Amino acid sequence: MHAVGIVAAAGSGLRLGAELPKALVALDGRPLVCWAVDALRAGGVAEVVVAVPAPQRAAFTAVLPDDVHVVVGGDTRTASVRAALAAAREHADAVLVHDAARPLTPPDVVARVLAALAAGARAVVPVLPVVDTTVVVDADGVVEADVPRPSLRRVQTPQGFDRATLVEAYARSHGTAAEFTDDASVVRAAGVPVQTVAGDERATKITVAHDLALAELQVRS
Ligand code: CTP
Ligand code: MG
Repeated sequence: MHAVGIVAAAGSGLRLGAELPKALVALDGRPLVCWAVDALRAGGVAEVVVAVPAPQRAAFTAVLPDDVHVVVGGDTRTASVRAALAAAREHADAVLVHDAARPLTPPDVVARVLAALAAGARAVVPVLPVVDTTVVVDADGVVEADVPRPSLRRVQTPQGFDRATLVEAYARSHGTAAEFTDDASVVRAAGVPVQTVAGDERATKITVAHDLALAELQVRS
């Protein structure tokens, strides 16, 4: 199976609040985007396309390996993945879409996603259980109900897809008003079942400064 990796790295990182786009922010001296590319490759992905913000295209090209394909992303994560997918279209039978914001994803997670695709899954996401008590609140913040946890999962990346399935689902969603926060939602909206494999706490997303501080500790431990 020939898999191409897409790294969504075109966000600005408003919640992290750095001077640079989040994907260029350093973890242990290396930009987050480089960690994410390495994780995909170490897990068995042959080639990688990275979606970057237009104004910093040169800065990304300067830090990424020469054989990584760089494309300009869009205003939303969905638009960025769509742009990268267009560049990756011819090259593979599987596509793994990963967030630059998940730098410490162990290669094992990537390998599990690839194995599920090789076994016939059309779409697969790494997931973790929800460990905190989880509730629904009303508009005033008053708890309305407990949510039973056994069937809940937190979804991570990389998310893996049969290439034609993902291309078709993105084509179908184009021009609709629907907002998607990940790629599995795009595929599910097209009626495709999404399987799960075990994720990893180390693949957690860097969103705010505290997450980056924890990642620095993780690298040094
Ligand atoms: N992303 C992207 N294109 C966008 C928005 C986000 O490629 N237009 C990418 C980000 O670079 C990130 C991933 O999607 O790797 C997950 O998004 P998020 O964690 O929300 O990152 P940002 O959008 O950069 O951060 P924020 O929402 O705090 O501004
Ligand atoms: Mg965002």
